[in-house]
Amino acid sequence: MTTLTSYLDQHSTSTELNDVITTVTNVGKTISQLLRKGALADILGEAGNQNVQGEDQKKLDVLANDLLLDALAKNTHCAGVASEELDNATPANADGSLLVLFDPLDGSSNIDINMAVGTIFSILPYQRQGQTSENSDFLQAGNQQLAAGYLLYGTSTVLALTITENVVMFSLDPDTGDYVLIEDNVQIDADTSEYAINSSNYRYWRAPMQQYIDELIAGEAGVRGRDFNTRWVAAMVGDVHRILCRGGLFTYPFDTKYAHKAGKLRLMYEANPMSLLIERAGGGATDAVNRILDIEPTDIHQRVPVVLGSKNEVDYVKDLHVNYSEK
Ligand code: AHG
Ligand code: MN
Ligand code: MN
Repeated sequence: MTTLTSYLDQHSTSTELNDVITTVTNVGKTISQLLRKGALADILGEAGNQNVQGEDQKKLDVLANDLLLDALAKNTHCAGVASEELDNATPANADGSLLVLFDPLDGSSNIDINMAVGTIFSILPYQRQGQTSENSDFLQAGNQQLAAGYLLYGTSTVLALTITENVVMFSLDPDTGDYVLIEDNVQIDADTSEYAINSSNYRYWRAPMQQYIDELIAGEAGVRGRDFNTRWVAAMVGDVHRILCRGGLFTYPFDTKYAHKAGKLRLMYEANPMSLLIERAGGGATDAVNRILDIEPTDIHQRVPVVLGSKNEVDYVKDLHVNYSEK
């Protein structure tokens, strides 16, 4: 049996990174326990305020954020944190060598209905050790990530992690409190017939995305010549987990619903960590034209269109967009 602790000892490049990953995943155990108690722990419902992005915060969004923030602030290797729920990055320990970004609770609309939610995290190097970290220190492309992962609080709690070239998965044993290795080299099939998209936004998409979904819905009778199946968890963490388990395509594309936003998902603590996991598992991740991991961020909360999953399908969507813009 390999636990997370022994895996990190064997594979991580630094004790600092091990320590920060341990802090994040320990908070994940607490969140998992709270979720198991559900309504009995008084964690459901609205917090009564909005985050910087104008979204209503749930109690658990705030709680998960505070738990991660408090734990990481005490970690001497963490120089600062950035979170979906914090307007600005928060400095931690100036001598730390790592920056941690997180979506403390992904899939907020699932909390009150007892469905899957998760925590997504990304770890970047800190370049100005000894000085107080600022927002600008976090603005590094996803290809700079030292580690990325998520915790999925589903019927069981699963950790997906990448610190080397491999993507690995652990299952939390509720009896011992250990994360136990269940997959040591996750790989995604290049082809798929399953896709995830919120089709209610169809009228807001660009023409090539509309064409793509039209083709999938046409199924065997259309140009794709085979039937496709839809799945939508309404928590990216659940959709990405399904793709790591059995392939598929996930997209939250560019839409014109909110003119000032490029899409719904956030680059730095949703798209980047998920893209690193997906690419290292052999899949693709693009904003429909560019590789997500190569995007140079300008804002810690910036949004990005996301198309990720089985490589050939992601390339198909990308080709539709590139060919369309060249017409
Ligand atoms: P969050 O709960 O952190 O704001 O993220 C929710 C995101 C993502 O996880 C999910 O794929 C998507 O929002 C669901 O959006 P719809 O409600 O539009 O389906
Ligand atoms: Mn999210
Ligand atoms: Mn969230």
